[in-house]
Amino acid sequence: MSAFTLVNHLDQGYLRDALAADARTAFTAEHKWLPPKWFYDAEGSALFTKITQLPEYYPTRRELAILRARGAEVAAATGAETLVELGSGTSDKTEWLLSELSTAGTLRTYVPVDVDAGTLTSAAHRLIATYQDLSVYAVCADFEVHLKSLVGVPPGEATGRRLVAFLGGTIGNLTPAARAAFLAGLRATMAPGDGFLLGADLVKDPRRLVAAYDDAAGVTAEFNRNVLRVLNRELRAGFEPEAFEHVAIWDEENEWIEMRLRAMRDMTVGVEDLDLAVSFAEGEEMRTEISAKFRRAGLEDELRRASFTPAAWYTDPAGDFALSLSFA
Ligand code: AVJ
Repeated sequence: MSAFTLVNHLDQGYLRDALAADARTAFTAEHKWLPPKWFYDAEGSALFTKITQLPEYYPTRRELAILRARGAEVAAATGAETLVELGSGTSDKTEWLLSELSTAGTLRTYVPVDVDAGTLTSAAHRLIATYQDLSVYAVCADFEVHLKSLVGVPPGEATGRRLVAFLGGTIGNLTPAARAAFLAGLRATMAPGDGFLLGADLVKDPRRLVAAYDDAAGVTAEFNRNVLRVLNRELRAGFEPEAFEHVAIWDEENEWIEMRLRAMRDMTVGVEDLDLAVSFAEGEEMRTEISAKFRRAGLEDELRRASFTPAAWYTDPAGDFALSLSFA
């Protein structure tokens, strides 16, 4: 029998308050910057889905190809009873892991973790219709903040082997310091023998990288400006999205893509809920995302420093994207 449970670790107003705190820090800093997690309201999530279908944006297709080719190996290597997925979203790609783990006969519980309860619920209903014996224990939480809430989940069951999946290359949105803290915090929730499957985009020709974040159809530009619409709605800000230009650059030294919004003229923007007036000079840029690209040696070093043991490295034939499997 399949079953669905949802636990919510986000208090009423949690996300809005977290956005307000981030926005205040962002707008009072010398160099304005906003964390990328605020792109993803309903509109932003829909725009991201459109991005994944663009000819220039290769990561989603590459990762899916790797999961299809290597899902069975991952399932055999981990023998997981519980699959935990951080930032699960629609759980689309995860189906390849779920089906291989249920073919292997070990899987009992899927624990999707996401900030959006609606997305979690609809994904869970789709999955339990397909996997008759699967329990879905959905956790509504911010995985950077509430990692501890994953300990002892699902409750009331002997903790079998786990596989934690963090797909899509989202690890690249974290700065190196935030990555180290996140990996160590995650490791602390895991038992020896638990697996960690990490999706990472790889360093490649900068022209292809820049094109993936500055597509010809302008979808990424709209996705970038959408964060201003989120601020307008949630914090009663007065941004004119069209007064900002989308910028995507390759930072050679840090090996990350940086997205920015560039003010096209001098302006002052009111943010009512923060009681703040934010000035932009013409040409001033606000950073909205870093998307780090990795090399095998560097990523496996980061994993080792967080007490994971790297065990396998899977890439697509072009070597564009990687799935790293390590063990706690
Ligand atoms: C969902 C974080 C993996 O960094 O490539 C896509 C988001 N930003 N285009 C990425 C994104 C611009 C994406 N991640």
